[in-house]
Amino acid sequence: MGFASINVSVITLGYFLMLFVTLTSILNPIFASRICEFPAIFNLGDSNSDTGTHSAAFTALNSPNGDTYFHMPAGRFSDGRLIIDFIAKSFNLPYLSAYLNSLGASYTNGANFASAGATIRLPSPIIPASGGYSPFYLDVQYQQFMQFKDRSQIIRKQGGKFAKLMPKEDYFRKALYTFDIGHNDLGAGFFSNMSIEEVKATVPDIVNRFSIYVKNIYEVGGRSFWIHSTGPIGCLAYILTGFPSAEKDSAGCSKQHNEVARYFNYKLKEAVFKLRKDFPSAAFTYVDVYSLPLIACCGYGGKYNYSDAPRCGETITVNNTKMVVGSCDNPSVRVDWDGVHYTEAANKFVFDRISTGAFSDPPIPLNMACHRNV
Ligand SMILES: *[C@@H]1O[C@H](CO)[C@@H](O)[C@H](O)[C@H]1NC(C)=O
Ligand SMILES: *[C@@H]1O[C@H](CO)[C@@H](O)[C@H](O)[C@H]1NC(C)=O
Ligand SMILES: *[C@@H]1O[C@H](CO)[C@@H](O)[C@H](O)[C@H]1NC(C)=O
Repeated sequence: MGFASINVSVITLGYFLMLFVTLTSILNPIFASRICEFPAIFNLGDSNSDTGTHSAAFTALNSPNGDTYFHMPAGRFSDGRLIIDFIAKSFNLPYLSAYLNSLGASYTNGANFASAGATIRLPSPIIPASGGYSPFYLDVQYQQFMQFKDRSQIIRKQGGKFAKLMPKEDYFRKALYTFDIGHNDLGAGFFSNMSIEEVKATVPDIVNRFSIYVKNIYEVGGRSFWIHSTGPIGCLAYILTGFPSAEKDSAGCSKQHNEVARYFNYKLKEAVFKLRKDFPSAAFTYVDVYSLPLIACCGYGGKYNYSDAPRCGETITVNNTKMVVGSCDNPSVRVDWDGVHYTEAANKFVFDRISTGAFSDPPIPLNMACHRNV
């Protein structure tokens, strides 16, 4: 149940790329010596990087979410920190406040627009409709970012106690822009009445739209982009539970659902290549995010300890006794937190690997993500 059994071919590729980055570092000493200094991070995405939007805008998450690290719910769908938290920490930046969080939020070093349930394309249905997706889909997150960019500078110029909670103007150019979105576009397709082939056919349009927003942010000054692929959705308990008869691979994951995820990643990588070619003055890094499945740590019912309801932190009545769907004993050895999201341990595991550059294209480490022409 640990994460030791990561796909062998991925590891081999990782080593190959690590060797490659070592060689390019030797061949390119300027690149090797310049660590990027990002004074801010701006993040757009879904629940995999939501640090409080969903909780601020809708219903707050319950314990045991947050128990491992924050010792209370912290707006994150995990027992602890997310990959984006480890990214911020690696630059000695504070954890990002959600843009929509009106209480005690500081935006001096960036802002987080990610929202649980967010998609790239306009979703249907929307929260609070049952099974709804976030109304803060990528287009809205981009609008929020633009508003933040303008209004934060008005507030800085006004001075007073709010000024210091805003990023400096040049931070928008110097910042790292991170993206982790697309997962829910695939999920929405799978849980609609579309066939796997029909969902697959929507992928090019999803990725085209994604590209447009990255380009828009480039056009208002962004120069360093760190773009996560989607994970193996066919390994998550909510897919395995929703499609119990799906054909499985040797790891117990749904073959067809993972094939669509891989196709999404292939198109995304292609789109990142094109951005790099079209905008040579910016650094675009594609990051292959990959981990393993397994049984949900915080869930209830079924083969995978997951059902649509009740979810993690919700209350159920079993045998006439009320109980809260709580955490498994040791989330630090688990991957799957609640059937949909990773544990803090898995997030840290993924962060430790992707921050080296071993899973990126070009294979540059996170702390050099401002450089182009590797
Ligand atoms: C799928 O089709 C069934 C039967 O036609 C219908 O009851 C159901 O609401 C549909 N689901 C979605 C998500 O469209
Ligand atoms: C509820 O009762 C059934 C039958 O006695 C038992 O198998 C099950 O473990 C009980 N569930 C819980 C959560 O106690
Ligand atoms: C399933 O989730 C429950 C919380 O509802 C947890 O106590 C239990 O340890 C989990 N089971 C497994 C096998 O992880």
